[in-house]
Amino acid sequence: MEEDQQNYPGLVAPEIRMADLVLPNQTNYYRTMFGGDAMAMMDKAAAIATLLFCRQPIVTASTEHIDFRQPVHEGDIIEALARVIYVSRSMLVVRVHIYGENPMQSNRRLCTTGHFSLVAVTPEGKAMPVKTKLLLEDEQAREEWEVGRKIHEVIQARRKR
Ligand SMILES: CC(C)(COP(=O)(O)OP(=O)(O)OC[C@H]1O[C@@H](n2cnc3c(N)ncnc32)[C@H](O)[C@@H]1OP(=O)(O)O)[C@@H](O)C(=O)NCCC(=O)NCCS
Repeated sequence: MEEDQQNYPGLVAPEIRMADLVLPNQTNYYRTMFGGDAMAMMDKAAAIATLLFCRQPIVTASTEHIDFRQPVHEGDIIEALARVIYVSRSMLVVRVHIYGENPMQSNRRLCTTGHFSLVAVTPEGKAMPVKTKLLLEDEQAREEWEVGRKIHEVIQARRKR
């Protein structure tokens, strides 16, 4: 737990789910989904997960690697699962997974993974402390916290360059 969060109320971060249907205007020549559309959905899911966790205004500050492991096809049901995994003073790291499934084939599969970093801001857009402490309920949450902590380190190093 980061020192700054010690005195704030604690919460187990909810995993939010967002579903959609992949339509022809979201696909390329091969009738698979545009990466940019998947990234927009991930960003929105990350924002919802963050808002429901801290209930403060937030902005997306950066993304880490986004891996497009498998294509999502036209007509698939696409689902984003997002959860806050790490909180520093003002920054929150959110893990986002995208699943695709052909509804006729029940072939749900993990298609895209990524991490987004969001920052709590004042109404004027200046960074401010996150006023919720992240409670780690199980081993998976503790492992994901470590992933988030390393991402925070990488971002700090990158910002110094
Ligand atoms: C995010 C933002 C508010 C940070 O402002 P800043 O003055 O650089 O902030 P500071 O240097 O005081 O750092 C404040 C916090 O932001 C984090 N931060 C700053 N830049 C970051 C980045 N690129 N990625 C992730 N976190 C970042 C810092 O780590 C710090 O959090 P911490 O104390 O918990 O470690 C500012 O860069 C911004 O408004 N960016 C644009 C956001 C936006 O428009 N997003 C939509 C894109 S279309």
